[in-house]
Amino acid sequence: MTSTSPREILVTSALPYANGSIHLGHMLEYIQTDIWVRYQRLVGNRCHYVCADDAHGTAIMLRAEVEGISPEELIAKVQAEHEADFANFNISFDNYYSTHSPENQALAELIFNACDAKGHIARRTITQAFDPEKELFLADRFIKGTCPKCHAEDQYGDNCEVCGATYTPAELIDPKSAISGATPIQKDSLHMFFKLPDFQALLEEWTRSGSLQPEIANKLAEWLEAGLQEWDISRDAPYFGFQIPGTENKYFYVWLDAPIGYMASFKNLCQKTDNLDFDHYFNKDSSTELYHFIGKDIINFHGLFWPAMLHCADFRTPTAVYAHGFLTVNGKKMSKSRGTFIKAGTYLRHLQPEYLRYYFAAKLNNRVEDLDLNLADFVQRVNADLVGKVVNIASRSAGFITKKHDGILSDKVNEPELIAQFVAAKTEIGDFYENREFGKAIKAIMALADIANQYIADQEPWALAKQEGTEQQVQDICSTGLNLFRMLMIYLQPIVPDMTAAAGNFLNAPMTWQDLEAPLVGHQINKFKPLMTRIETATIESMLEDSKQELAKEEALKQAKPAASATFEPIAEQIQFPDFAKVDLRVVKITHAEAVEGADKLLRLQLDIGGETRQVLSGIKSAYTPEDLIGKLTIWVANLAPRKMKFGVSEGMILAAADGKGIYLLEPDSGATPGLRVS
Ligand code: MSP
Ligand code: ZN
Repeated sequence: MTSTSPREILVTSALPYANGSIHLGHMLEYIQTDIWVRYQRLVGNRCHYVCADDAHGTAIMLRAEVEGISPEELIAKVQAEHEADFANFNISFDNYYSTHSPENQALAELIFNACDAKGHIARRTITQAFDPEKELFLADRFIKGTCPKCHAEDQYGDNCEVCGATYTPAELIDPKSAISGATPIQKDSLHMFFKLPDFQALLEEWTRSGSLQPEIANKLAEWLEAGLQEWDISRDAPYFGFQIPGTENKYFYVWLDAPIGYMASFKNLCQKTDNLDFDHYFNKDSSTELYHFIGKDIINFHGLFWPAMLHCADFRTPTAVYAHGFLTVNGKKMSKSRGTFIKAGTYLRHLQPEYLRYYFAAKLNNRVEDLDLNLADFVQRVNADLVGKVVNIASRSAGFITKKHDGILSDKVNEPELIAQFVAAKTEIGDFYENREFGKAIKAIMALADIANQYIADQEPWALAKQEGTEQQVQDICSTGLNLFRMLMIYLQPIVPDMTAAAGNFLNAPMTWQDLEAPLVGHQINKFKPLMTRIETATIESMLEDSKQELAKEEALKQAKPAASATFEPIAEQIQFPDFAKVDLRVVKITHAEAVEGADKLLRLQLDIGGETRQVLSGIKSAYTPEDLIGKLTIWVANLAPRKMKFGVSEGMILAAADGKGIYLLEPDSGATPGLRVS
């Protein structure tokens, strides 16, 4: 590759799932990628940016069912919403497609068949939980039951939110399908596995290629050292996805065809574009570059399975995978109750997209670090930098040129050294963009903005303008100011493209990277209009309020959905009376109740057991407030061994029935008193 021939680059962002809205966490990724892509195009490289909705899998199938529409209708509806959000945030995809597409099906089959033909697909029968009512195999997260360790109810199939224990769904007490409520049975099924261990050597080499982030290379090295496992790539019907060739009821697991969706979207673009050849980019000796921008949660899919699959089917492997960290808001995980789980659409109803692009850029680096959107800092930063520093240069210079010089800039370059200093920054700023050090790029650009402001402050054109015979001087100072402003806006173009375009309209001038070298002289500009306005703190508050309300509405809709049909649960194994008599059940009175900090489901109760008190932690918070409970009589298992839970010790338990809809506490008839034994 010579410096004169443009690089040919294909870039992707991870494909968002087609069952939910885009939120600001997602936007971090699309904004990061888009800035990099726009930089590549700005400097004249041929850079294609493709993405798609990730449309397959059980979650999407079930969501469509709940909404009473077909999966195809659901994914079309969600894709339209996603595309609108991305367009409004100025994400410059060359193609936005779907994994549920003919190109993707053809490529998935081709890659699978290639792997199979080379002996890299294993077939064996496995035993899995199965919902006999829905006739559906159940992934761990679709099984709920009582924790085998602390006996907290309603816990997911692989870990307990109350005590933190991890286990297999088979160990859950009283497991239930989270979909139908039925008790799962164990069932055999033939599965297909991608033999990842066959690719140990390839992956070791790819990991050491030098183009990966050190964090990713280390993580991959760790996995490679621990030994690779075969990967289950098949799912049984019913499943929304592609049927596996040669089978009747097996489907590709969503994560098999998801990354292939990158290729499919590009293939679709090639079909629509002259002079763009799919094979040129994907053949195994391709000289083009391929980059995947992803979040840190999906490194294994992109760093292990994906290069192995590509290699196996004789395609090129990615040049690099670039992972970013997760977004927090005001220092915490995005939260629905605080209103900080902000959807892209909600943000856009209140604020301009380029504020967020600027703020994310200011805080992004090339490491796998989490990034905090601190809303107070966001307001301060955008107002101080973009409005206070950058726009200020133009607004202080433009008026004199428009009013006193018919909008015409001086006909020679003044302050050549200052101009040269701004041009010289090109290499450093360009390198920061290339290396995804956007925060450093902004720091360098703002340092130049400070210099430009200082220049104007020192020259005081407003003071000069009041004196006689200074027209030329004022024109020169303001022309220099506007040329410096133009260079800053060119440098900022990948981050705030709309603002740069507006600056280009005002200056009546092109805004490409090459234009840095060509200052505007004797040039007619247009009337200045404010290019960006300040963010008001009140706007942030109304956005958070809006966000809270929107999510509350969604929750209410979910609650209103008819609960899973009640099924009669088979009666448990018979026991003899002496077994039952071992259980000491007592009437007790709830004398005190309170929420348990950090636990979603638990209440801490104090019981009067007939002169003495005991404490139990009970998972009934979703159905009762503390006030509901205080003074109530209920039934208590007195001789159950105390259990140490994450939030304290629970001495025995109180009895309640539950279905998907509610929890129903057992109460003795009136007249009973604390301490009475139940028999
Ligand atoms: N469908 C898969 C990706 C398949 S790629 C072949 C998926 N989808 S996702 O919708 O859950 O996430 C899409 C991207 O957004 C991922 O890269 C993910 O890491 C990123 N993010 C999702 N939530 C995020 C934050 N809160 N913060 C930063 N990035 C986040 O994973
Ligand atoms: Zn537990």
